[in-house]
Order: sequence, then structure tokens, then C-alpha cells
Amino acid sequence: MTVSPHALMPTYSRQPVAFTHGQGVWLWDTEGRQYLDALSGIAVNTLGHNHPSLVAALREQVGQLIHTSNLYEIPLQTELAQTLVRLSGMTNVFFCNSGLEANEAAIKLARKHGHQLGFDRPKIIVFEKSFHGRSLATLSATGNEKVQKGFEPLVEGFVRVPLNDLNTIARYAERHPDISAVFLETIQGEGGIRPSDIATLKSLRRLCTEKNWLLMLDEVQCGIGRTGKWFAHQWADVIPDVMPLAKGLGSGVPIGAVVAHGIAATIFEPGNHGTTFGGNPLAMRAGLETIRAIESEGLLQNAADRGAQMKAALTEALRHTAGIQEIRGHGLMIGIELAKPCAALVAQARDAGLLINVTADTVIRLLPALTLTASEADEIVARLAPLVRKFLEDAP
Ligand SMILES: Cc1ncc(COP(=O)(O)O)c(C=O)c1O
Repeated sequence: MTVSPHALMPTYSRQPVAFTHGQGVWLWDTEGRQYLDALSGIAVNTLGHNHPSLVAALREQVGQLIHTSNLYEIPLQTELAQTLVRLSGMTNVFFCNSGLEANEAAIKLARKHGHQLGFDRPKIIVFEKSFHGRSLATLSATGNEKVQKGFEPLVEGFVRVPLNDLNTIARYAERHPDISAVFLETIQGEGGIRPSDIATLKSLRRLCTEKNWLLMLDEVQCGIGRTGKWFAHQWADVIPDVMPLAKGLGSGVPIGAVVAHGIAATIFEPGNHGTTFGGNPLAMRAGLETIRAIESEGLLQNAADRGAQMKAALTEALRHTAGIQEIRGHGLMIGIELAKPCAALVAQARDAGLLINVTADTVIRLLPALTLTASEADEIVARLAPLVRKFLEDAP
């Protein structure tokens, strides 16, 4: 038996670096080395590190009130719910603490909706390569066997189809009369930055309305301005029935939210769902300040512009490099797919002072803060492109 020296369960193979402080998109480690953070805590630090108005708001809130309980009125919860309603065009919000919790709530909404439609064993259509979290229900919805292995029996009631494949969905609909929802990431994150086509999203919206299914769009990673709109589905001009959010909503303070629309907002009744920590004043203040800063600093436009700049610069810098499969994504959610597994690039980039991630074995993932400047965007490309070229040239 090996016991971890950290006294932690060995759930992560951690990189050998620890950070002491940050400023904007920059981080410093315990040895004083500086890094350009192109990952922002996996799409969490929307405003970068040590953002002055976020820090001031949180300091003030900590001095006033951190937690009361959902047994009482929480005015900041109402304020953030109303803000999310305004930005999404949806109707009601439930607050929790993480992405998987938001997705659990969405799955419960779909189950109860199915029962209300008269189904004993309602089914949810989910997608290959998806990621929705690591609780039993959300890992069962996830399209990755590595995440599921060892935790069987999985939660039943999910039917899986390939992304952007409407024909298969239509065939399933004929075979399974008890479907109650379609559940997908608007842009798959862990699966390798794979977007749903705009045409698919529009067709799914029509199909769900026609069939009485809930359209549930997981925007835990791609929401809150990352793609240059508040929510990635707004590029397709559709409104989902259910939208789980988390990650970037609190700029680093744990938070989750399920936003519901129309009939989906009427499914939960008192006693159906709850949380001790969810919606506490500190997290609500973080959400409100994140949204306020995105609006006042023009960060939606910045995400769109910096994303376009980086994609163009990466495309140009890697134009003649064999082994680049595709450079894709939207705004500041960029994936560079290589023809071979490239996890080794993470350490090489770190040595060059750049923090990146590799997901789905072959996809370099960039998720910098929405506050990224034009010169910082250039600097990410300047540090990354030579490493990728060398990596592919050494052993294509
Ligand atoms: C799309 C998506 N959904 C859900 C989750 C789970 O979120 P959390 O880790 O906060 O539970 C993630 C996390 O990576 C995600 O990317």
C-alpha cells in the first residue's frame, strides 16, 4: 500500500509546482518564477488573478456576511438570479456550488419532467465524448469510459448518440417513447473543444419543443462570456429549457447555478431539491461582481477579439507544420488538435513559463482569462507555437 506524502487521496497526478500569488493572467511560483496562465484554473478565473474590484467586493462581503442559510431570504441571491435571467432571457435560477451539482439538478428536472409526462423510467439523450461531472448521475451521463470505470452500476436512463448527429436522435426517438430531455455541452470542453453545430442546436430546439423534451445545455465550461457572448448557445439564437452554469461565474469562488425557462422552471416544488452552501452571500457577491466587471470592462467583446486574434496567429504560426489536425473553438475557448498524443507538452510549456492543458489525449486546450490583453495573447502564441512545432517535428 502506498500512502500519498501529501495526506491527500491520490485523485490527481499533480504538476510539481505551487503558486504563491497572481496578477491578471500572470502567476508566480514558490521559487519566484513567473508564468503566463493560459488555463485560468480550467475556465474559472474569468477576471484573472487579483482583480481589484473583485477583491474589494469579496473583502467587503467577508466583513459583512459569508453564510446564513436558505432557510432565510438572501437578497444577493435574488439579485444574481435576476441578473442571470436578464442575460439569458430565461426565467428562474437555483444556486449550488459546482458544475456537477448544477448538472445533478438538471438531471433531476429531466427525470421529474418525464414522470409528469407519465413515463415510469424516463430517458435522457446524452452524447459521445461529453463530460458532465463525477457524481454518480453525472458520470453516468458522461461519454467517457475512463470516468465511469470502477463505479458501475451506472445510473440508468441515459441513451448516448454521436455529437451533431440528428438522424440517430430521430431513430432513438422512434424506439424510445419515454425520452424527456436532450442534455449536451454547447461546446464540449474535456472532450476536446468540440462545438455543437449552430444548425444542430437550432434543430434540437425545434425537436425538443415539438416532442415536449427539455433542451438542457451544459454551459459550465463555455458559459459566462468565454465565447464572446454571455452563453455559447446565444450564437445559435436559441433559448434552452435548462442551463447549468458554474466555473467562470464566480471568478474562483465556488458557485453553481441551474437556470431554467418556462415549464422547466415550474418542475421543482418545495422539498424537491436543496443545498446547505448553495447561494450563500459570499458566492453571490462573487457572481455579481464577475458579471458587473464583464459588462463594465467590455470583456465579451475582448473575449471575441482576443480569441480571433489567437486563432489567426496560431493558424499562421503552425501553417507549415505537419501533424496539426485542426485549430478550433470560439472566443477564448481554443483547442489545437494534433495527430498524436501530446500530454508531454504540458511540462514543456511550463518550463517555458506557460500554463496550458491537454485534454482528450491529443488536444491542447487554451482557456485564458477574459481580461487577456492583445500583447498577452501574442505572448501565448509566441511561447506555444515553437514548442508545438518542435514536438511534431521531433517525432511526427
Ligand atoms: C462541461 C462541464 N460540465 C460539468 C463539469 C463539472 O464541474 P465541477 O468540476 O465543478 O463539478 C465540468 C468540469 O470540467 C465541465 O467542463
